[in-house]
Amino acid sequence: MVEFIDLKGEYEGIKDEVDSKVKKVLSSGSYILGEEVKEFEKEFSEYLTVKNGVGVSSGTDALILSLAALGVKENDEVITVSNTAFPTVAAIFSLKAKPVFVDVGNDYNIDVSKIEEKISEKTKVILPVHLYGNSCDMDKIMKIAKDNNLKVVEDCCQAHGAEYKNKKVGSFGDLGCFSFYPTKNLGCYGDGGFVSTNDDELNEKVRMLREYGQKEKNKFVMKGYNARLDELQAGILRVKLNHLSEWNEKRRKNSKIYNENLKNVELPIENGKSVYHLYVVRSKERDNLMEKLKGKDINTLIHYPIPIHLQEVFKDKEKLEKTEQFSKEILSLPMHAFLDEEEILGVCKEI
Ligand SMILES: Cc1ncc(COP(=O)(O)O)c(C=O)c1O
Repeated sequence: MVEFIDLKGEYEGIKDEVDSKVKKVLSSGSYILGEEVKEFEKEFSEYLTVKNGVGVSSGTDALILSLAALGVKENDEVITVSNTAFPTVAAIFSLKAKPVFVDVGNDYNIDVSKIEEKISEKTKVILPVHLYGNSCDMDKIMKIAKDNNLKVVEDCCQAHGAEYKNKKVGSFGDLGCFSFYPTKNLGCYGDGGFVSTNDDELNEKVRMLREYGQKEKNKFVMKGYNARLDELQAGILRVKLNHLSEWNEKRRKNSKIYNENLKNVELPIENGKSVYHLYVVRSKERDNLMEKLKGKDINTLIHYPIPIHLQEVFKDKEKLEKTEQFSKEILSLPMHAFLDEEEILGVCKEI
Protein backbone atom coordinates (compact mmCIF):
# COMPACT_ATOMS: atom_id res chain seq x y z
CA MET A 1 0.00 0.00 0.00
CA VAL A 2 1.37 3.45 -0.90
CA GLU A 3 -0.32 5.98 1.39
CA PHE A 4 -1.23 9.40 0.02
CA ILE A 5 -0.03 11.00 3.25
CA ASP A 6 1.42 9.56 6.49
CA LEU A 7 0.49 11.65 9.53
CA LYS A 8 0.95 8.77 11.96
CA GLY A 9 4.48 8.15 10.65
CA GLU A 10 5.27 11.85 11.03
CA TYR A 11 4.06 11.83 14.66
CA GLU A 12 6.08 8.68 15.48
CA GLY A 13 9.27 10.47 14.41
CA ILE A 14 8.72 13.44 16.76
CA LYS A 15 6.64 11.74 19.46
CA ASP A 16 8.95 12.52 22.39
CA GLU A 17 9.23 16.21 21.53
CA VAL A 18 5.50 16.59 20.94
CA ASP A 19 4.42 14.64 24.02
CA SER A 20 6.72 16.61 26.29
CA LYS A 21 5.44 19.91 24.81
CA VAL A 22 1.81 18.83 25.33
CA LYS A 23 2.55 17.94 28.96
CA LYS A 24 4.32 21.27 29.47
CA VAL A 25 1.38 23.26 28.10
CA LEU A 26 -1.21 21.26 30.03
CA SER A 27 0.65 21.75 33.29
CA SER A 28 1.18 25.48 32.66
CA GLY A 29 -2.46 26.40 33.36
CA SER A 30 -2.32 28.85 30.42
CA TYR A 31 -4.29 27.70 27.39
CA ILE A 32 -5.28 30.78 25.39
CA LEU A 33 -2.94 33.51 24.06
CA GLY A 34 0.03 32.80 26.30
CA GLU A 35 3.77 32.27 25.76
CA GLU A 36 3.49 29.49 23.16
CA VAL A 37 1.39 31.58 20.77
CA LYS A 38 3.65 34.61 21.31
CA GLU A 39 6.83 32.62 20.66
CA PHE A 40 5.34 30.79 17.67
CA GLU A 41 4.26 34.10 16.14
CA LYS A 42 7.84 35.33 16.49
CA GLU A 43 9.42 32.15 15.16
CA PHE A 44 7.14 31.65 12.15
CA SER A 45 7.42 35.35 11.22
CA GLU A 46 11.21 35.01 11.30
CA TYR A 47 10.99 31.87 9.16
CA LEU A 48 8.88 33.77 6.62
CA THR A 49 11.05 36.91 6.95
CA VAL A 50 8.07 39.13 7.72
CA LYS A 51 7.77 41.77 10.40
CA ASN A 52 4.56 40.55 12.04
CA GLY A 53 2.49 37.41 12.38
CA VAL A 54 -0.78 36.61 14.12
CA GLY A 55 -1.79 33.10 15.19
CA VAL A 56 -5.44 32.46 14.33
CA SER A 57 -7.90 29.59 14.43
CA SER A 58 -7.74 28.31 10.82
CA GLY A 59 -6.66 29.18 7.30
CA THR A 60 -10.21 30.22 6.48
CA ASP A 61 -10.22 32.59 9.47
CA ALA A 62 -6.82 33.94 8.40
CA LEU A 63 -8.41 34.88 5.06
CA ILE A 64 -11.57 36.31 6.66
CA LEU A 65 -9.60 38.44 9.13
CA SER A 66 -7.24 39.65 6.39
CA LEU A 67 -10.09 40.72 4.10
CA ALA A 68 -11.90 42.32 7.06
CA ALA A 69 -8.72 44.19 8.08
CA LEU A 70 -8.57 45.64 4.55
CA GLY A 71 -12.15 46.83 4.92
CA VAL A 72 -13.66 44.45 2.35
CA LYS A 73 -17.44 44.68 2.64
CA GLU A 74 -20.72 43.73 0.98
CA ASN A 75 -20.63 43.86 -2.86
CA ASP A 76 -16.89 44.50 -3.05
CA GLU A 77 -15.11 42.28 -5.56
CA VAL A 78 -12.16 40.03 -4.80
CA ILE A 79 -10.19 38.60 -7.72
CA THR A 80 -9.10 35.00 -7.26
CA VAL A 81 -9.17 31.58 -8.95
CA SER A 82 -11.78 28.86 -9.25
CA ASN A 83 -9.08 26.17 -9.15
CA THR A 84 -8.58 26.25 -5.38
CA ALA A 85 -9.90 24.75 -2.16
CA PHE A 86 -13.42 25.98 -1.44
CA PRO A 87 -12.44 27.89 1.76
CA THR A 88 -10.65 30.55 -0.32
CA VAL A 89 -14.06 31.51 -1.66
CA ALA A 90 -15.96 30.76 1.57
CA ALA A 91 -13.86 33.50 3.21
CA ILE A 92 -14.91 36.00 0.52
CA PHE A 93 -18.55 34.97 1.00
CA SER A 94 -18.21 35.51 4.77
CA LEU A 95 -17.79 39.24 4.14
CA LYS A 96 -20.68 39.25 1.65
CA ALA A 97 -18.16 40.19 -1.04
CA LYS A 98 -18.12 38.72 -4.55
CA PRO A 99 -15.42 36.37 -5.85
CA VAL A 100 -14.36 37.18 -9.42
CA PHE A 101 -12.58 34.28 -11.07
CA VAL A 102 -9.56 34.38 -13.36
CA ASP A 103 -8.57 31.28 -15.34
CA VAL A 104 -5.34 29.48 -14.50
CA GLY A 105 -2.18 28.89 -16.52
CA ASN A 106 -0.36 25.59 -17.15
CA ASP A 107 1.17 25.85 -13.66
CA TYR A 108 -2.44 25.67 -12.23
CA ASN A 109 -2.05 29.13 -10.63
CA ILE A 110 -3.74 32.40 -11.57
CA ASP A 111 -3.01 33.43 -15.19
CA VAL A 112 -1.56 36.90 -14.60
CA SER A 113 -2.20 37.94 -18.23
CA LYS A 114 -5.95 37.64 -17.55
CA ILE A 115 -6.20 39.58 -14.28
CA GLU A 116 -6.57 43.13 -15.61
CA GLU A 117 -9.61 42.36 -17.77
CA LYS A 118 -11.44 41.31 -14.56
CA ILE A 119 -10.75 44.52 -12.62
CA SER A 120 -13.81 46.74 -12.10
CA GLU A 121 -14.67 49.76 -9.97
CA LYS A 122 -15.76 47.36 -7.25
CA THR A 123 -12.47 45.42 -7.10
CA LYS A 124 -10.68 45.80 -3.77
CA VAL A 125 -8.31 42.87 -3.50
CA ILE A 126 -6.36 40.37 -5.59
CA LEU A 127 -6.23 37.03 -3.78
CA PRO A 128 -3.71 34.73 -5.51
CA VAL A 129 -3.49 31.12 -4.29
CA HIS A 130 -0.07 29.41 -4.25
CA LEU A 131 -1.66 26.12 -5.14
CA TYR A 132 -0.05 22.74 -4.41
CA GLY A 133 2.88 24.54 -2.70
CA ASN A 134 3.96 26.37 -5.86
CA SER A 135 4.28 30.15 -5.97
CA CYS A 136 2.27 32.44 -8.25
CA ASP A 137 4.02 35.05 -10.41
CA MET A 138 4.23 37.60 -7.58
CA ASP A 139 6.18 40.29 -9.51
CA LYS A 140 3.34 40.64 -12.03
CA ILE A 141 0.61 40.42 -9.39
CA MET A 142 2.21 43.12 -7.22
CA LYS A 143 2.66 45.38 -10.26
CA ILE A 144 -0.97 44.99 -11.36
CA ALA A 145 -2.10 45.70 -7.78
CA LYS A 146 0.06 48.82 -7.57
CA ASP A 147 -1.03 50.13 -10.98
CA ASN A 148 -4.69 49.67 -10.06
CA ASN A 149 -4.54 50.68 -6.41
CA LEU A 150 -5.57 47.25 -5.14
CA LYS A 151 -4.53 45.26 -2.09
CA VAL A 152 -3.05 41.75 -2.24
CA VAL A 153 -3.87 38.89 0.13
CA GLU A 154 -1.79 35.77 -0.58
CA ASP A 155 -3.45 32.41 0.10
CA CYS A 156 -0.41 30.44 1.31
CA CYS A 157 -2.48 27.70 2.92
CA GLN A 158 -0.69 25.05 0.83
CA ALA A 159 2.70 26.76 0.60
CA HIS A 160 4.58 26.94 3.92
CA GLY A 161 8.14 27.75 2.96
CA ALA A 162 7.61 28.01 -0.82
CA GLU A 163 9.81 30.64 -2.46
CA TYR A 164 9.50 33.02 -5.38
CA LYS A 165 12.81 34.64 -6.43
CA ASN A 166 14.43 33.42 -3.18
CA LYS A 167 11.79 35.04 -0.98
CA LYS A 168 9.14 33.13 0.97
CA VAL A 169 5.51 33.42 -0.06
CA GLY A 170 3.46 35.32 2.48
CA SER A 171 6.01 38.14 2.40
CA PHE A 172 4.92 39.75 -0.89
CA GLY A 173 1.33 40.88 -0.45
CA ASP A 174 -0.26 43.18 2.13
CA LEU A 175 -1.15 40.03 4.06
CA GLY A 176 -0.36 36.30 3.78
CA CYS A 177 -2.67 33.55 5.05
CA PHE A 178 -1.61 30.10 6.25
CA SER A 179 -3.53 27.01 7.35
CA PHE A 180 -2.20 24.49 9.87
CA TYR A 181 -4.83 21.88 9.04
CA PRO A 182 -3.18 18.53 9.95
CA THR A 183 -2.39 17.50 6.36
CA LYS A 184 -0.48 20.70 5.51
CA ASN A 185 3.34 20.78 5.21
CA LEU A 186 3.21 22.46 8.62
CA GLY A 187 0.10 21.15 10.35
CA CYS A 188 -1.08 20.99 13.94
CA TYR A 189 -3.31 18.36 15.58
CA GLY A 190 -6.54 20.26 15.10
CA ASP A 191 -7.31 23.56 13.39
CA GLY A 192 -4.96 26.52 13.26
CA GLY A 193 -3.93 29.39 11.00
CA PHE A 194 -1.64 32.40 10.66
CA VAL A 195 -1.64 35.88 9.12
CA SER A 196 1.71 37.35 8.06
CA THR A 197 2.21 41.04 7.28
CA ASN A 198 4.93 43.68 7.06
CA ASP A 199 2.32 46.37 7.75
CA ASP A 200 2.10 47.34 11.44
CA GLU A 201 -1.37 48.84 11.14
CA LEU A 202 -2.80 45.73 9.46
CA ASN A 203 -1.09 43.58 12.08
CA GLU A 204 -2.86 45.55 14.83
CA LYS A 205 -6.21 45.24 13.05
CA VAL A 206 -5.90 41.47 12.57
CA ARG A 207 -4.92 41.13 16.26
CA MET A 208 -8.03 43.05 17.32
CA LEU A 209 -10.29 41.17 14.89
CA ARG A 210 -8.99 37.87 16.31
CA GLU A 211 -10.36 38.78 19.75
CA TYR A 212 -13.82 40.35 19.36
CA GLY A 213 -12.37 43.68 18.15
CA GLN A 214 -10.62 44.29 21.45
CA LYS A 215 -7.83 46.91 21.46
CA GLU A 216 -6.95 46.60 25.13
CA LYS A 217 -8.68 44.92 28.02
CA ASN A 218 -12.40 45.77 27.87
CA LYS A 219 -11.94 48.34 25.07
CA PHE A 220 -13.70 47.21 21.90
CA VAL A 221 -13.01 49.34 18.83
CA MET A 222 -14.13 47.18 15.91
CA LYS A 223 -16.62 44.43 15.12
CA GLY A 224 -14.48 41.33 15.54
CA TYR A 225 -14.50 37.57 15.89
CA ASN A 226 -13.23 34.83 18.16
CA ALA A 227 -10.51 33.40 15.96
CA ARG A 228 -7.55 32.62 18.22
CA LEU A 229 -4.83 29.99 17.85
CA ASP A 230 -4.67 28.07 21.14
CA GLU A 231 -1.60 27.38 23.28
CA LEU A 232 -1.60 23.62 22.73
CA GLN A 233 -1.58 23.90 18.95
CA ALA A 234 0.98 26.73 19.05
CA GLY A 235 3.28 24.59 21.21
CA ILE A 236 2.96 21.66 18.79
CA LEU A 237 3.59 23.98 15.84
CA ARG A 238 6.79 25.25 17.48
CA VAL A 239 8.05 21.67 17.68
CA LYS A 240 7.08 20.95 14.08
CA LEU A 241 8.47 24.22 12.72
CA ASN A 242 11.95 22.95 13.66
CA HIS A 243 11.44 20.10 11.19
CA LEU A 244 9.71 22.01 8.38
CA SER A 245 12.80 22.78 6.26
CA GLU A 246 13.95 19.17 6.42
CA TRP A 247 10.47 17.85 5.54
CA ASN A 248 10.11 20.33 2.66
CA GLU A 249 13.52 19.29 1.30
CA LYS A 250 12.42 15.66 1.45
CA ARG A 251 9.28 16.52 -0.52
CA ARG A 252 11.42 18.32 -3.11
CA LYS A 253 13.71 15.31 -3.34
CA ASN A 254 10.68 13.05 -3.83
CA SER A 255 9.33 15.33 -6.56
CA LYS A 256 12.66 15.01 -8.37
CA ILE A 257 12.42 11.22 -8.32
CA TYR A 258 8.90 11.48 -9.78
CA ASN A 259 10.06 14.00 -12.42
CA GLU A 260 12.93 11.78 -13.53
CA ASN A 261 10.97 8.55 -13.69
CA LEU A 262 7.41 9.37 -14.80
CA LYS A 263 6.34 8.83 -18.40
CA ASN A 264 3.01 9.35 -20.21
CA VAL A 265 1.78 12.20 -17.97
CA GLU A 266 2.23 16.00 -17.87
CA LEU A 267 4.61 16.91 -15.05
CA PRO A 268 4.11 19.89 -12.72
CA ILE A 269 5.69 23.23 -13.68
CA GLU A 270 7.69 24.72 -10.82
CA ASN A 271 7.90 28.48 -10.22
CA GLY A 272 10.78 29.38 -7.92
CA LYS A 273 10.98 26.81 -5.14
CA SER A 274 7.85 24.70 -4.67
CA VAL A 275 7.34 22.80 -1.42
CA TYR A 276 5.19 20.18 -3.17
CA HIS A 277 2.30 20.13 -0.74
CA LEU A 278 0.78 18.08 -3.56
CA TYR A 279 2.45 16.45 -6.55
CA VAL A 280 -0.06 16.83 -9.37
CA VAL A 281 0.23 15.30 -12.84
CA ARG A 282 -2.14 15.48 -15.79
CA SER A 283 -3.48 12.81 -18.13
CA LYS A 284 -6.34 12.55 -20.63
CA GLU A 285 -6.78 9.05 -19.17
CA ARG A 286 -7.03 10.35 -15.58
CA ASP A 287 -10.04 8.34 -14.43
CA ASN A 288 -8.69 5.04 -15.81
CA LEU A 289 -5.29 5.76 -14.33
CA MET A 290 -6.74 6.52 -10.91
CA GLU A 291 -8.77 3.31 -10.96
CA LYS A 292 -5.77 1.21 -12.03
CA LEU A 293 -3.56 2.69 -9.32
CA LYS A 294 -6.27 2.01 -6.76
CA GLY A 295 -6.22 -1.63 -7.87
CA LYS A 296 -2.49 -1.68 -7.06
CA ASP A 297 -3.08 -0.19 -3.57
CA ILE A 298 -1.71 3.21 -4.58
CA ASN A 299 -3.82 6.02 -3.13
CA THR A 300 -4.34 9.11 -5.28
CA LEU A 301 -6.74 12.07 -5.00
CA ILE A 302 -8.09 14.89 -7.18
CA HIS A 303 -7.53 18.53 -6.18
CA TYR A 304 -10.14 19.57 -7.21
CA PRO A 305 -12.71 17.54 -9.16
CA ILE A 306 -15.33 20.31 -9.51
CA PRO A 307 -14.06 23.86 -10.12
CA ILE A 308 -15.62 26.31 -7.69
CA HIS A 309 -17.42 28.40 -10.34
CA LEU A 310 -19.32 25.25 -11.39
CA GLN A 311 -20.48 24.42 -7.86
CA GLU A 312 -24.20 24.54 -7.11
CA VAL A 313 -23.82 27.68 -5.01
CA PHE A 314 -23.12 29.72 -8.21
CA LYS A 315 -26.15 30.50 -10.35
CA ASP A 316 -24.37 31.99 -13.38
CA LYS A 317 -21.92 29.45 -14.66
CA GLU A 318 -19.19 31.28 -16.57
CA LYS A 319 -16.61 29.55 -18.77
CA LEU A 320 -13.04 29.14 -17.50
CA GLU A 321 -11.43 27.01 -20.15
CA LYS A 322 -8.23 25.72 -18.56
CA THR A 323 -9.69 25.41 -15.08
CA GLU A 324 -12.45 23.18 -16.49
CA GLN A 325 -10.14 21.16 -18.74
CA PHE A 326 -7.58 20.55 -15.97
CA SER A 327 -10.23 19.48 -13.45
CA LYS A 328 -10.86 16.46 -15.70
CA GLU A 329 -7.17 15.60 -16.13
CA ILE A 330 -5.36 16.32 -12.86
CA LEU A 331 -4.30 13.61 -10.43
CA SER A 332 -2.47 14.08 -7.12
CA LEU A 333 0.05 11.28 -6.56
CA PRO A 334 1.21 10.14 -3.09
CA MET A 335 3.44 12.89 -1.64
CA HIS A 336 4.83 13.32 1.85
CA ALA A 337 8.20 13.55 3.56
CA PHE A 338 8.18 9.88 4.60
CA LEU A 339 7.78 8.25 1.18
CA ASP A 340 10.81 6.20 0.21
CA GLU A 341 12.42 5.99 -3.20
CA GLU A 342 11.21 2.44 -3.76
CA GLU A 343 7.58 3.46 -3.20
CA ILE A 344 7.89 6.38 -5.64
CA LEU A 345 9.57 4.21 -8.28
CA GLY A 346 6.75 1.68 -7.80
CA VAL A 347 4.14 4.39 -8.51
CA CYS A 348 6.10 5.57 -11.58
CA LYS A 349 6.33 2.01 -12.91
CA GLU A 350 2.56 1.47 -12.62
CA ILE A 351 1.84 4.77 -14.38
C1 LIG B 1 -5.84 26.90 -0.70
C2 LIG B 1 -6.50 26.82 0.64
N1 LIG B 1 -7.09 27.93 1.15
C3 LIG B 1 -7.68 27.92 2.35
C4 LIG B 1 -7.73 26.79 3.13
C5 LIG B 1 -8.44 26.83 4.44
O1 LIG B 1 -7.70 26.40 5.52
P1 LIG B 1 -8.44 25.77 6.82
O2 LIG B 1 -8.89 24.40 6.44
O3 LIG B 1 -7.34 25.76 7.85
O4 LIG B 1 -9.54 26.68 7.19
C6 LIG B 1 -7.12 25.62 2.65
C7 LIG B 1 -7.10 24.37 3.45
O5 LIG B 1 -7.93 23.53 3.40
C8 LIG B 1 -6.51 25.63 1.38
O6 LIG B 1 -5.93 24.52 0.86
